[in-house]
Amino acid sequence: MSNAETNSESFVEMARMNDDTATLRLDGIPADTLSKVQKYLENFQLSLEKLQIISARLRKDMIRGLGKHTHHSASVKMLPTFVRATPDGTEKGDFLALDLGGTNFRVLHVRVVEEEQKVLKMDYTIPQKIMVGPGEQLFDHIAACLSKFLDLENLKGQTLPLGFTFSFPCEQKEIDKSILIRWTKGFDCSGVEGQDVVRLLKEAIRRRGDYEIGTVAMVNDTVGTMMSCGYKDQSCEIGMIIGTGTNACYMEEMKNVTRVEGEDGRMCINTEWGGFGDDGSLKDILTEFDEVVDKTSINPGVHTFEKMISGMYLGEIVRLVLVRLTEDKLLFKGKASAALLTQGTFETKFISEIEEEDTGLETAKKILTELDLDWDSVDARVVRLVCDTVSSRSARLCAAALATIANHIRVNRGLDHLETTVGVDGAVYRKHPNFSDELQAMTRLLAPKCDVTFILSEDVSGKGAAMMAAVAQRLAL
Ligand code: BGC
Repeated sequence: MSNAETNSESFVEMARMNDDTATLRLDGIPADTLSKVQKYLENFQLSLEKLQIISARLRKDMIRGLGKHTHHSASVKMLPTFVRATPDGTEKGDFLALDLGGTNFRVLHVRVVEEEQKVLKMDYTIPQKIMVGPGEQLFDHIAACLSKFLDLENLKGQTLPLGFTFSFPCEQKEIDKSILIRWTKGFDCSGVEGQDVVRLLKEAIRRRGDYEIGTVAMVNDTVGTMMSCGYKDQSCEIGMIIGTGTNACYMEEMKNVTRVEGEDGRMCINTEWGGFGDDGSLKDILTEFDEVVDKTSINPGVHTFEKMISGMYLGEIVRLVLVRLTEDKLLFKGKASAALLTQGTFETKFISEIEEEDTGLETAKKILTELDLDWDSVDARVVRLVCDTVSSRSARLCAAALATIANHIRVNRGLDHLETTVGVDGAVYRKHPNFSDELQAMTRLLAPKCDVTFILSEDVSGKGAAMMAAVAQRLAL
């Protein structure tokens, strides 16, 4: 048997381990091409054993992040959120919520009556120049959008409690005091890192002087997601986002939250798992493509794990692999187009579309045409295989991280078996045709003593922020 045959067979074997549909992806690609392509893809393939090793590393990093004397230098920040309770279903009233975390900015009015939640929401965009401009401009923009919304809803004159979902790593001092550690996901507004974001918001509202807001509760989107699911299912104690960025939070025993006084009860910890690997601990699994994605990002060296997983980066990883395969004459007769050579042109949503079971190959051809590429049907299949490999790695890495949290909660509570629920949100999880299946299957394998139920956050995490404002108000009464 030639080397090429052995390689392609072992690749088929690995693909089979991934899932059954993966083998279908290999159909129609000649063995010789396949074995050459696989040389570029094999570093994306993570075996169960490797994932267990990654999970063990994350567990160690989580412990470092929680430690009173080790958290300063930890790459997984494990930030206390000052959220000590999840909704108990008794929260009632009118609340406002803001949700800032991606290119869209959402404003919501949530009315909770008799377990019914009525949600009115508006989406506003954050122009690119505001995303990287002065911080004051960003908060003025947010305050202006909120003003428009209050006019529309006829709410000016009322002073409603406000939940603010701010999906960036923050050192929370209190529920209404939260210092931005650093921007992620393409934001880079000056003068905000190191500052209290709630104060910046309140100052912007005060500068306008045309409305007032009540008490503010600030939460990360993972916390908002956990909260919004927790209103329905009180065993929801993990929140996870796999969208533009990725992250998770969970309810930790207070005795382990050594940075905050008190031993009783639990507190929600925002893990900021996106930073896993920033100290070099994932070097052995980074591919040459991950390294380029990092170097060409606006925050090199930061959020290594996130850059292998989330929507902001997956499309770019695929594009870089396609460029490499073209250089090696394995695609498009060796000719790349200007579009293919341009950063950001292969959008992450293309991956989901191309991986659709029935329509994927046709969509691939359309996308390749739009990218000005001279493709044939083998090219379309190779592109689909690349998409599948990159998204599958993302799902597996998320599973390893989620399993680490579930196992950690189980061990914390001295249980042989844990039943728990995770609230999930984010476009990658929602829109990709088999991401959630692969994530769930791998989580079961990596956390065999945990029975994890997944609930899709029904609305945006902003609703959870409103719930948080409600819980904060309930606890203050
Ligand atoms: C941020 C997290 C956030 C996640 C998902 C990451 O870039 O650091 O705070 O939860 O994206 O939106």
